[in-house]
Amino acid sequence: MQSETEKQPRIVALCGSLGSDSATRRACELALEIAREEGAITELIDLRTWKLPFAASGFDKDEWPDVERLNTLIRSSDGLIWATPEYHGSYSGSFKNALDLGSFPEYKGRAVALLGVAGGAIGATQSLSHLRGVARTLHTICINEQVSIANSSSAFDAEGQFNDPKLAAGLRHMAVQLVRWSKIARTLRQELA
Ligand SMILES: Cc1cc2nc3c(=O)[nH]c(=O)nc-3n(C[C@H](O)[C@H](O)[C@H](O)COP(=O)(O)O)c2cc1C
Repeated sequence: MQSETEKQPRIVALCGSLGSDSATRRACELALEIAREEGAITELIDLRTWKLPFAASGFDKDEWPDVERLNTLIRSSDGLIWATPEYHGSYSGSFKNALDLGSFPEYKGRAVALLGVAGGAIGATQSLSHLRGVARTLHTICINEQVSIANSSSAFDAEGQFNDPKLAAGLRHMAVQLVRWSKIARTLRQELA
């Protein structure tokens, strides 16, 4: 018999900004709050606090214990939020590097929701479409719902809530759907194991 905690879906947000006052991180926190309301156990990966090498085959695992710590945490998830700032028309290098330190054991069969944050008015649509290809390559279950935040410097009020209620509703919808898909993803992984 599974305990109540074991039954809860586990959702991990991978935040690809190293910025000190990061809009991407704030958006992750808001999405995880909603996921918790929906019954998930959540964790935020803030890459500023992890000591990670550039991804390459054959790095010294003893020298970089955070790589296994990161991958263990990701493997324990049923669903992930892949959150990135838009950098020069795509996702950030730090985000992709964190992904590249893992592979199929970490990502295959996990539900993934995409979240992109851009300084400009067009939003993070390019990051999001590029990430969708990466999500397919890693055999994730990338859900349809995604969020693109434009004009990041004016997206939040002084309390860290969205100024635009439509954006708040979009993030809520994405987080709720991610929790639902995470439960399905867990069942599928168990059936296919
Ligand atoms: C190296 C770099 C490249 C950027 N390129 C773009 C871009 O192509 N389009 C855009 O809208 N904003 C661009 N920006 C602005 C960031 O998307 C924006 O500042 C965003 O809020 C960063 O995320 P963060 O607040 O989570 O750190 C760029 C910022 C940096 C530092």
